[in-house]
Amino acid sequence: MAGRWFESVAVAQRRARRRLPRSVYAAIVAGSERGITMEDNLAAFGELGFAPRVAGQPASRELETTLMGQQLSFPVVVSPTGVQAVHPEGEVAIARAAASRGVAAGLSSFASKPVEEVVAANPRTFFQLYWSGSRDDIAGRMERARAAGCVGMIATLDWSFDTARDWGSPFIPDRLDARAALRLAPEVLARPAWLWSYLRAGALPALTVPNMALRGEPAPSFFGAYGEWMQTPPPTWDDVAWMVSTWRGPFMLKGVMRVDDAKRAVDAGVTAISVSNHGGNNLDGTPASIRALPAVARAVGDQVEVVLDGGVRRGSDVVKTLALGARAAMVGRAPLWGLAASGQAGVENVLDVLRSGIDSTLRAIGRSSVHELCDGDVVVPAGFVRQLG
Ligand SMILES: Cc1cc2nc3c(=O)[nH]c(=O)nc-3n(C[C@H](O)[C@H](O)[C@H](O)COP(=O)(O)O)c2cc1C
Repeated sequence: MAGRWFESVAVAQRRARRRLPRSVYAAIVAGSERGITMEDNLAAFGELGFAPRVAGQPASRELETTLMGQQLSFPVVVSPTGVQAVHPEGEVAIARAAASRGVAAGLSSFASKPVEEVVAANPRTFFQLYWSGSRDDIAGRMERARAAGCVGMIATLDWSFDTARDWGSPFIPDRLDARAALRLAPEVLARPAWLWSYLRAGALPALTVPNMALRGEPAPSFFGAYGEWMQTPPPTWDDVAWMVSTWRGPFMLKGVMRVDDAKRAVDAGVTAISVSNHGGNNLDGTPASIRALPAVARAVGDQVEVVLDGGVRRGSDVVKTLALGARAAMVGRAPLWGLAASGQAGVENVLDVLRSGIDSTLRAIGRSSVHELCDGDVVVPAGFVRQLG
């Protein structure tokens, strides 16, 4: 590991860019349309400031918290992401890293590894569900996640299937047949370390989504499952309530940006709300999620747990989210850059960067616990907050 440690998520991202084939890197950058939302998720954190103290700060800081009934050693949860072709250990490496650092992780329905393997690596796994197929299909996936030992459910409902990008989308094949291999060969051969990691593991990326199948059934292809999801009519609020009652356990609705939706989610019985715009990968023009957080937290924060997802790249960002009303922050791309840079150790490195950044920010602003943070701890410029709905 010597020499592979990195000091910030930005450094990890640069390493990922050098290591990953162009299409895989571009699939993580993602974004949609002009990238307005993706960029605003990052820019908005830059608009928030701090007023540091010069003496009298606490000598130690409390970082532990709980979310959806789980103890977290610091207030960060890994967002669910479909980790296709980034690293041969994929979501299992993320799960091991999350377990070693004492945080929970979401596991995507579109993940490359079966839920049973991932939960074995990290018992604090929340399974992430899309509204895809019939109620029986969805209940079957929940049942499989429950049997595997998942301790919570995340329903992600903010997806509208428009992934056109002004900078062009990467080529993602349905499977790695000879034609796809030929097309991808130049960019893959330019990244021999990535190719070698897969060859050493004994298999090229399968590009399948095992968790969209019932246990024991063959894993569908990514695009096969995507097609089923696309053809499924959007869920109603009754469907949301049905998911909550079918799961019968801690349940997060991810993708909430509006106050009225947050209130309906409370009525549907959720445990937690993730204020999120899918990392800027869904409807472009949606404001940064951190701008929408204060109004949502004020409206429902005393009834459900509110977390912030989108644009978090450093520990001070996590502190800003907590000061504006979140209980924890979720991180999507940050751990993926770590995973791409150096597997499990890279994800651990990212989590360490976040943890130490939270600690040093608390010290600088004179807070002894993440539970003390309030909006007076951040400098919020006029017009920053957006109340939607
Ligand atoms: C490559 C990639 C794949 C993603 N896949 C999923 C997914 O399968 N399910 C889901 O709920 N969200 C998915 N997301 C969204 C993340 O869970 C999260 O909302 C987003 O990455 C947060 O923004 P951040 O990357 O700025 O932290 C994905 C995001 C990226 C970048």
